[in-house]
Amino acid sequence: MTSPTPLPTPVVRPTPGSGGLVDRYGRTATDLRVSLTDRCNLRCTYCMPPEGLDWLPKVEVLTDEEIVRLVRIGVERLGIREVRFTGGEPLLRPGLPGIVAAATALTPRPEVSLTTNAIGLARIAPALAEAGLDRINVSLDTVDPARFKQLTHRDRLDDVLAGLAAAQAAGLTPVKVNAVLLHGINDVDAVPLLDFCLEHGYQLRFIEQMPLDAHHAWTRGRMVTAEDILERLSTAHTLTPDTEERGSAPAERWLVDGGPATVGVIASVTRSFCGTCDRTRLTADGQIRNCLFAREESDLRTALRSGATDDELADRWRVATLGKLPGHGIDDPSFLQPTRPMSAIGG
Ligand code: 5AD
Ligand code: SF4
Repeated sequence: MTSPTPLPTPVVRPTPGSGGLVDRYGRTATDLRVSLTDRCNLRCTYCMPPEGLDWLPKVEVLTDEEIVRLVRIGVERLGIREVRFTGGEPLLRPGLPGIVAAATALTPRPEVSLTTNAIGLARIAPALAEAGLDRINVSLDTVDPARFKQLTHRDRLDDVLAGLAAAQAAGLTPVKVNAVLLHGINDVDAVPLLDFCLEHGYQLRFIEQMPLDAHHAWTRGRMVTAEDILERLSTAHTLTPDTEERGSAPAERWLVDGGPATVGVIASVTRSFCGTCDRTRLTADGQIRNCLFAREESDLRTALRSGATDDELADRWRVATLGKLPGHGIDDPSFLQPTRPMSAIGG
């Protein structure tokens, strides 16, 4: 078991009113994840129960204008360079192309991407490309129709495959596919998923399952680890480490059969990358979370709706960043799963 990268003693204290999103361990957040809704049209077993969850009341969800304002403050005042829209399922938000267009019109122009389950993407991919969307990540855990239905409680694999093809045709490339493997359910899909992505030119990345399910069923022992995934893939392909610089990107990349195709493995649990984390998160109801696993949030919505200025909102965001913990601590006996599930935080 590898411990999180050791971090230096806290030293940095940014002056309110200026600068970016710096935490007490010297990390700077430049990558903003915005959850546009907590709702979803799938029910992935590792995420939500079949009956769904208690969705956020509509009045609590930020409007398109409120989201665009906060993204603008992030980009113009706080050094945000990358904006990723997530959910729940962000395609359920009717104003999505307009939100993307507003984000890509900002100066300095941030890189703008989307994480989606691709249901409905076939129809909307051209409008998203037109709005300036740079890239897309599609969540897909199996290419077997029966297992897709078992895993997501919906018979929609064809829609997802059509969405992937449409994203590629619209130039939203490289199209990335994110997969989570579950022991005894879809771990057999590791090689078929890779073969499918190789055939279509999609970049596949496996993500270790994190304890973020709404029903708190995750256990460390049942998690499919990065090591298990590599072992499975190696039965059908030769993997060699890709030596290209990884930066703060969490995926460890491997060349498949000598390259140029690659496969990524994001060992979020067993080889945490908290030490180089550059992320900050805005939930659909306007809360800043400095970490996926944060137990506290900072309420920008109330401030925003009570007339706070851009400067005041930027300062609240800076202060919220100061409390960021050094690591997720999943392996600590004292670890507590966050009360919000992944679908309400944004991936
Ligand atoms: N662990 C890892 N990844 C998860 N996702 C959802 N829940 C989890 C979890 N508990 C993934 C989805 C999607 C992205 C937003 O996060 O499959 O690819
Ligand atoms: Fe929906 Fe994503 Fe959760 Fe699956 S993992 S139910 S696609 S929010």
